[in-house]
Amino acid sequence: MTTVYLNGKFLPADQACVPVLDRGFIFGDGVYEVIPAYGGTLFRFDEHLQRLQNSLDAVRIPNPLSTAGWRTLLGELIVQNDSDDQSLYLQITRGSAERDHAMPLNTVPTVFAMSKPLHPVNQHIREHGVVAITLDDIRWQRCHIKAISLLPNILLRQEALDQGAAEAILIRDGLANEGAASNLFIVIDGELITPPTGPFLLPGITRDLILELARTNGIVHRERNIRRDELQRADEIWLTSSTKEILPVTMLDNTSVASGKPGPLFQRMLALYQNYKQQLRKP
Ligand code: PDD
Repeated sequence: MTTVYLNGKFLPADQACVPVLDRGFIFGDGVYEVIPAYGGTLFRFDEHLQRLQNSLDAVRIPNPLSTAGWRTLLGELIVQNDSDDQSLYLQITRGSAERDHAMPLNTVPTVFAMSKPLHPVNQHIREHGVVAITLDDIRWQRCHIKAISLLPNILLRQEALDQGAAEAILIRDGLANEGAASNLFIVIDGELITPPTGPFLLPGITRDLILELARTNGIVHRERNIRRDELQRADEIWLTSSTKEILPVTMLDNTSVASGKPGPLFQRMLALYQNYKQQLRKP
């Protein structure tokens, strides 16, 4: 049984209970983060905490812990769950109150965290890539907030799975912004491109690292909008997230992406990414 953290206590997952009037349960009124830990070291902890703070500020929930407090909590969770690489999930909701859309005064936020073993992306996917489809982005206008209310994302991901794809790439006003739970990169005309941050995508921590690795390794790259037609003629398409790292898309809407194999820049970036992770593991 995995050990989870709830409101100040570490306990077995099946003993952790939240009141039914918790606004996370009633309204999906809360925010979250997913932070990988490699060999016990938190991946880009400060960046994740900054994004958490931005999400909390955007929905007007006070941060219940200091940065040091979060570090201690997550460090303890890593120790209690004892696996080499872990994916840590943390969630803060506005707390319990009588059901009313208006934000209640003086509720105590609910703080929850759990850990799952983080398995390396499977070799078959790295060699052959994944299938993706494009779908209209049916989400709201604040996609930069990492909110726990994810029903549109769930519907979009499931639609992709129903069509035999691993992920949906979301199109809004003719632009491809991101996946249902991942950021988007393409390689086109010799450049690595990702859409700029803004209200229509989550500023991914993996995305940031990839841009940094491109910068420090002389890979030509740019943040700019990606039109649907560019997505369709891209030489490479990647999806990125903390748990999936970098996934090469080799089939989009039933058409092969370039040769239908993961491309050379993907291979290069994957090696750079693995190297970065390896450095974290060193004592
Ligand atoms: N999701 N965009 C969306 C909509 C996401 O849900 C995610 C990650 C990302 C990538 O962000 P990052 O690189 O910081 O993981 C982009 C997480 C993993 C999840 O919901 O489980």
